[in-house]
Amino acid sequence: MKVLVTGGCGFIGSAAILQWMAAEEGLEVLNLDALTYAGNPENLASLEGNSRYHFVLADLRDAVRTLQVVQDFRPDRVVHFAAESHVDRSIVAPGDFIQTNIVGTYHLLEAARAVGVERFVHVSTDEVFGSLGPTGAFTEVTPYAPNSPYSASKASSDHLVRSYHHTYGLPTVITNCSNNYGPRQFPEKLIPLMILNAMDDKPLPVYGDGQNVRDWIHVDDHVRGVWSVATHGRPGETYCLGGASEKTNLAVVEAICDAVGASRSLIHFVPDRPGHDFRYAIDSSKARSELGWAPSRSFEDGLADTVAWYRANPAWVDRVRSGVYREWMETHYGGRA
Ligand code: NAD
Ligand code: TYD
Repeated sequence: MKVLVTGGCGFIGSAAILQWMAAEEGLEVLNLDALTYAGNPENLASLEGNSRYHFVLADLRDAVRTLQVVQDFRPDRVVHFAAESHVDRSIVAPGDFIQTNIVGTYHLLEAARAVGVERFVHVSTDEVFGSLGPTGAFTEVTPYAPNSPYSASKASSDHLVRSYHHTYGLPTVITNCSNNYGPRQFPEKLIPLMILNAMDDKPLPVYGDGQNVRDWIHVDDHVRGVWSVATHGRPGETYCLGGASEKTNLAVVEAICDAVGASRSLIHFVPDRPGHDFRYAIDSSKARSELGWAPSRSFEDGLADTVAWYRANPAWVDRVRSGVYREWMETHYGGRA
């Protein structure tokens, strides 16, 4: 099977490619990535020389280039991870989120429609549903109510994907997943940022009162769910994937302090994020019953493994922090997609 993966050098896309290439013997992957600040080819260094893996530097904002790549590769399936993904960046500068998440998804849909594919899997987020109160959980029928430029851009792309199924019969499937954590996550997101700061005895900035709740899922569980959807999901359907592991941010940061062996006195409360969603939680019943998928990792074990990964990979951390990881693109492509 030939699968075009977009955003494969990012956190979740790289975990997906590594997991799927190891598990599926006949799988051939083309990774289309623009290598923004979030794309790190070192995440996939172990696949160098593997004849079933190919990389192409391309930007989804470029319609002509996107079509060319899809036409050349002729994938059976497309799995679309590429996006601007960080809420805080979307608050400061929404423009790239509109261009990549909405316009880029449109270009990819057009390319998939032009060549015809067996499945187009759009990887999205639970943040499109907005904020929950203290009880309840998002399902596939929860109305959309995005609150940040990031979630609004993902909601918009979800709607486009849905429309391409209903209007053109493109066999699309959407996944809406909760917060991921695990190895190789860029240290701007809560968990890697706190792990690395705690390891360095630096302050741990918790927004507001730390009582906001996220439903944490290990990235390996998420990408296993995306593979199930890519192979068994029904066209036109949406699947909610969650970790069944709700935690307040404060509880997460305290757990990180304990796992790292750092003092909880490093925690300090900083002004809240504007429009900060209070709580996310996912009801994955549909994916569990239809696809036989369920998350397998407990938060405690997954967090311990994640801390161990950051400890064991100081070179990855140093190269990301110093920006040296960007040299790969300079060397191979003169810095441009
Ligand atoms: P990430 O920011 O780590 O990686 C994004 C990747 O997309 C990078 O490799 C980047 O270079 C690439 N990219 C960005 N703009 C591009 C463009 N214009 N053309 C081609 N490639 C481009 O993101 P992530 O955390 O791995 O998230 C992957 C997907 O999963 C996103 O669609 C995100 O919305 C979704 N998601 C993320 C989470 C989470 O907790 N991180 C949860 C649910 C859903
Ligand atoms: P984040 O990892 O940015 O994911 P998202 O905003 O997509 O849920 O943040 C997770 C939670 O942690 C969110 O409620 C914001 C909070 N947070 C902090 O309290 N401090 C931080 O430094 C960061 C990055 C996030």
